[in-house]
Amino acid sequence: MKTLIFYYTGTGNSLWSARRLAEKLDNARLQPMKGADALAAGEADAVGFVFPVHMWGIPGPVVEFIERLSLRPETYLFALAVNAGQVSRTLVQLREMLAGRGLTLAAGFSIVLPSNYIPWGGPGPVERRDARIAAARDRLEAAAACIAGRESGPVEKGPLWQRIAFTAIYKMTFKQVPSMDKDFWCDDRCNSCGICVRVCPAKNIELRKDRPAWLHRCQQCLACIQWCPQEAIQFGKKTPAYERYHHPEIVLKDMLE
Ligand SMILES: Cc1cc2nc3c(=O)[nH]c(=O)nc-3n(C[C@H](O)[C@H](O)[C@H](O)COP(=O)(O)O)c2cc1C
Ligand code: SF4
Ligand code: SF4
Repeated sequence: MKTLIFYYTGTGNSLWSARRLAEKLDNARLQPMKGADALAAGEADAVGFVFPVHMWGIPGPVVEFIERLSLRPETYLFALAVNAGQVSRTLVQLREMLAGRGLTLAAGFSIVLPSNYIPWGGPGPVERRDARIAAARDRLEAAAACIAGRESGPVEKGPLWQRIAFTAIYKMTFKQVPSMDKDFWCDDRCNSCGICVRVCPAKNIELRKDRPAWLHRCQQCLACIQWCPQEAIQFGKKTPAYERYHHPEIVLKDMLE
């Protein structure tokens, strides 16, 4: 196998990006980080990480996954940080994390797609979403060409003000993420289908008296609220009015595989 691409996703943007990249590369295989038990990249001569930006940095489960993954120094490493317009210092963080282990992140690309962060509103008007998806297709094509040519270069990053201000917030909030699920609740449209339980990568939801209960080991991926077929899950007060989002080419079955 030539290229192994590990992905993490809440609403499919990163999965879609990883798939499109794999289509453009010769002999590439996709592997979800969720539930991956073989924590060695084996014989792959290129290894990629595709994940969403969370709170201006790398999501905790992705940090943990990469730290546990055994990698060879000669392997060509690359990453896609999938975001909604504020990649900030995420890819620099990854480059430094790998450098601490004597590894080199050869290429790091920011891919902008619609926002899934529903507590701050919906994903935006359809025209803007479609424009972002179209632009991301082109970006992924260019990224694939660089990766196929095993090119190296500086990783992409946000402006300095963003990197300073938001990295501080990332550091402050990082440890609080597991308990942020205290703002989830469920309305009367719930029909106890259990999809929220199955889609959660953290095994953070169980049905109690036929309703979801959150167990405070949340990763804030927002899969539960975005994939609930009844739109019965809410976060805080405003989400009943906000549209749900997942990438239009990703279906629930993809998330449950
Ligand atoms: C908890 C959380 C925090 C987020 N923080 C950022 C951020 O700092 N910058 C940004 O551009 N997008 C942010 N987003 C938006 C996602 O990065 C973006 O929608 C991404 O495409 C989602 O990918 P996924 O569908 O693979 O989960 C955040 C989303 C979530 C759920
Ligand atoms: S996915 Fe929605 S409808 Fe199904 S059990 Fe969870 S909250 Fe209820
Ligand atoms: S509870 Fe919801 S937001 Fe938290 S990890 Fe599970 S699916 Fe993601």
